[in-house]
Amino acid sequence: MELGLRGRTAFVAAASNGIGKGVALGFAAEGCDVGICARNGEALDSVALQIRAAGVRATPAVADVTDVDAVRVAIQETVEATGRLDALVVNAGGPPPGHFADVGDEQWEQAFQLTLMSAVHLVREALPALRRSDAASILFLASWSVKQPIDGLLLSNSIRGAVNGLAKTLANELAPAVRVNSILTGRIRTERTEALASHNHPTADVDTVLAQEAKAIPMQRFGTVEELARVAVFLSSPAASYVSGVALPVDAGVIQAVM
Ligand SMILES: NC(=O)c1ccc[n+]([C@@H]2O[C@H](COP(=O)([O-])OP(=O)(O)OC[C@H]3O[C@@H](n4cnc5c(N)ncnc54)[C@H](OP(=O)(O)O)[C@@H]3O)[C@@H](O)[C@H]2O)c1
Repeated sequence: MELGLRGRTAFVAAASNGIGKGVALGFAAEGCDVGICARNGEALDSVALQIRAAGVRATPAVADVTDVDAVRVAIQETVEATGRLDALVVNAGGPPPGHFADVGDEQWEQAFQLTLMSAVHLVREALPALRRSDAASILFLASWSVKQPIDGLLLSNSIRGAVNGLAKTLANELAPAVRVNSILTGRIRTERTEALASHNHPTADVDTVLAQEAKAIPMQRFGTVEELARVAVFLSSPAASYVSGVALPVDAGVIQAVM
């Protein structure tokens, strides 16, 4: 299937590693120029090299997504480098684990800034350029925790619901100029998944912990970054021109809700 991304531009936030990196490389493989941001400049430069190896332009910018000025500059640099913006992928690192009794107001505020306000700022800064595209898309990379709380991830469970409310509202407010969708990411193996496994079982081997946890996934395995990225790139592409307002689980059936 031709996705229609060739010659277009995407911006992927938090893309020096993990899912964001996979999505950025997925756009590049479709002939789409890619702007990326994250905090670690060295890791970003390495992703930029991989993007360019696909024959497209990469615009890496060191930016913490909680820093609105840095986000503005990162998006501006991408638009200036390529002359356009067609797709925004809203992503950030996950908030730290914790149960209610362990989490104070400062951590609540940090998670609010990281998970919700970063999304608000990314959308606000990208919108003027997106409105000039004839096939604009915003994709929120969310979590299956929106449908089913994950034990020990209080902050993620609580704040991601607000992000999904934002996404659905924007799908109404920005139509027909911009399509807006979310992915409810299930269990994808990344550094974060491995770090959470170590946090929950400090003395156990990570592979053993993840193999045990995979038994709760109907497909009996963690997904790969590439499996998630393929869906993200499709939803962000003109090929998905009649898909807006959805929150699509990419979770191998792990969410135990009927819809
Ligand atoms: N993996 C899963 O199974 C899963 C499931 C559900 C939801 N999620 C969510 O999906 C998102 C990505 O997860 P992942 O597994 O890809 O995590 P990851 O492997 O830890 O990668 C996180 C990425 O975000 C960047 N980042 C972190 N904090 C940032 C900040 N303040 N500003 C800019 N960039 C930042 C990191 O780069 P720098 O360190 O260079 O900034 C890195 O590139 C997270 O929100 C996670 O909670 C993941």
